[in-house]
Amino acid sequence: MSTRKILATSALPYANGPIHLGHLVEYIQTDIWTRFQKQRGHECYYICADDTHGTPIMLKADSLGIKPEELIAQTYQAHLADFTEFGIVFDNYHSTHSEENREFSSLIYKRLRDGGHITSKTITQAYDPVKEMFLPDRFIKGECPKCGAADQYGDGCEVCGATYSPTDLKNAVSAISGEKPIEKDSVHYFFNLADFTQMLQDWTTAGHLQPEVTNKLAEWLDGGLNQWDISRDAPYFGFEIPDAPGKYFYVWLDAPIGYMASFKNFCDKKGLDFDDFWAKDSQTELYHFIGKDIIYFHALFWPAMLSGADFRTPSAIFAHGFLTVNGEKMSKSRGTFIQARTYLNHLNPEYLRYYFAAKLSAGVDDLDLNFDDFTQRVNSDLVGKVVNIASRCSGFIAKRFDNQLSAMCAEPVLFQSFITANEEIAKCYENREFNKAMREIMALADKANQYIDEKKPWLIAKEEGKDQELHQVCSMGLNLFRVLMIYLKPVLPKLVSDAEHFLNFEVGIWEVNENEHNSLCEPLLNHKINDFKPLMTRVDPEKIAAIVADSQENLEKMPVVKAKQFEPIAPEIEFDDFAKIDLRIAKIVKAEHVEGADKLLKLTVDIGDETRQVFAGIKSAYAPEDLEGKLTVVVANLKPRKMKFGMSEGMVLAAGSGGKELWILSPDEGAVAGMRVK
Ligand code: MSP
Ligand code: ZN
Repeated sequence: MSTRKILATSALPYANGPIHLGHLVEYIQTDIWTRFQKQRGHECYYICADDTHGTPIMLKADSLGIKPEELIAQTYQAHLADFTEFGIVFDNYHSTHSEENREFSSLIYKRLRDGGHITSKTITQAYDPVKEMFLPDRFIKGECPKCGAADQYGDGCEVCGATYSPTDLKNAVSAISGEKPIEKDSVHYFFNLADFTQMLQDWTTAGHLQPEVTNKLAEWLDGGLNQWDISRDAPYFGFEIPDAPGKYFYVWLDAPIGYMASFKNFCDKKGLDFDDFWAKDSQTELYHFIGKDIIYFHALFWPAMLSGADFRTPSAIFAHGFLTVNGEKMSKSRGTFIQARTYLNHLNPEYLRYYFAAKLSAGVDDLDLNFDDFTQRVNSDLVGKVVNIASRCSGFIAKRFDNQLSAMCAEPVLFQSFITANEEIAKCYENREFNKAMREIMALADKANQYIDEKKPWLIAKEEGKDQELHQVCSMGLNLFRVLMIYLKPVLPKLVSDAEHFLNFEVGIWEVNENEHNSLCEPLLNHKINDFKPLMTRVDPEKIAAIVADSQENLEKMPVVKAKQFEPIAPEIEFDDFAKIDLRIAKIVKAEHVEGADKLLKLTVDIGDETRQVFAGIKSAYAPEDLEGKLTVVVANLKPRKMKFGMSEGMVLAAGSGGKELWILSPDEGAVAGMRVK
């Protein structure tokens, strides 16, 4: 086996949020694969970084009242701590907000520009006149042009699934200031992706991609490639474009370059040759592990950029599917949007590493974390099968043989069959078919347990003069267990390290060479081991319940209270009856006491294009100053009513039984006066 030189990356997580279990699919997958390559004796590096640039990070820092630099420094620490506790070991974890990245981004941009692949042109975009910034699609909200759903983002409707451009939204507002955006011109820089059509047609069909990904790309390629807008205007947290003051690289331009930057940073620390891995004629292997949502960036933009800037292209892109929890998209209200930290507060990270391994294939299918399945698999496979082999045999070895293994291998054929299986298991790891690898390993664990079941050491132990047999059977069991530890090491580094201490040996290079003696082929004979300590405990279902409870942030703060008084539902009405009611979001601009009225407050409400005066019987529950500035819902087309104290031009909606128990309805943040409620 000759030594390969491998550089593997995971996608760079955004620095505006914590690591969650969805992310971990990818980082655990890459970690298992790179650990495997290292165990095979290859020169393999796992490189990653935080993705720190862009509008969301800038705005989040803003809202926290700190500088983006501070935010990304905090997130960096938090991300790395999460990864480390999940046993994910990067050879280097850097940041896209680094000097190396600035240099490579400039270099690549200049090479693309000098190659004639950059065009500039003026475009018109939505602009927030209050915040004084151009608005990315995701920061414009309004009503869906197709179905009318309120509160939809500028790029598509979550209700009906329509996609459109933000200018199509009705009653659009800036999600940052709530102000109506204006249109404004600005010069942008574009990467002429179409220059690389032929190159990409070749590259995407040359075995660098999974078949289903190649097919997807063929659709995109056939549709023709558009220019890619790579610049953003100030204010923007990112790198200024070298020859264009006030213009910044779009975050997705410098993000993949972050792979190079992190590796360069690593090379400088370790004295490695950067060009060996990135020069155009490089003979080394380069792999990017990514989620299926970012294929476009990695399989089209990235190879084109690299090729246009005279660097090597990736050996392969490995895309994986998305994580669902209990069969559904992760959800904050269901408590299934689980942060890495929340999991770590309750459960052993190696449970999850094993579970993901048992579910991961080489394809892009989504994978489901089902809590019952999770509990059952970990308990039955790891605790019930694997660890059980050691606990069944170790007691006798300790008590009767002073922790010394027998001098002879009792079952050379059985042992050999465990060694022979290594080839198939290694192939599965190499091809990222971890689910198959786990199945093979568990089949071996079953075989080891069967052997012990047949020999029944607990009975032999009771018979006179059968010491040697007992010694050999238990030693055999532990030797089979040891082989399993070699195979499971990429997945369960902590458990295997504890097992190494127990067995008093170190898993060496995973290599089978008949001519050389090495740790894989040879059983441990006449070998002293240490006392056995439980290597893994069963999953406690209460811990899972605790994780879900801790993840239910929103609901936790709003305990569910049932209405005291049961009010029967009113008689059924026709849709048309309902449609006649024009409900509007209203902003209470003024609230005043009314002379002589003990229940009423006089409200001045802004309903978009006009203000109204409304009398509302909510004085028992609200002081006027509590109401000013609040959003609520009013019936806007109710016929004005002359009341004792003046005209009431609408009605405020409230719920409750009266007295202090009364709440005006108020919409979530993001609603704006004048929006129609439907
Ligand atoms: N910053 C970009 C990647 C830049 S790479 C040059 C990004 N960041 S991310 O934080 O949103 O996602 C990081 C990785 O985690 C991506 O590969 C993404 O596909 C993956 N996942 C995020 N949520 C996921 C699931 N729910 N399930 C599986 N993987 C998921 O994208
Ligand atoms: Zn819609």
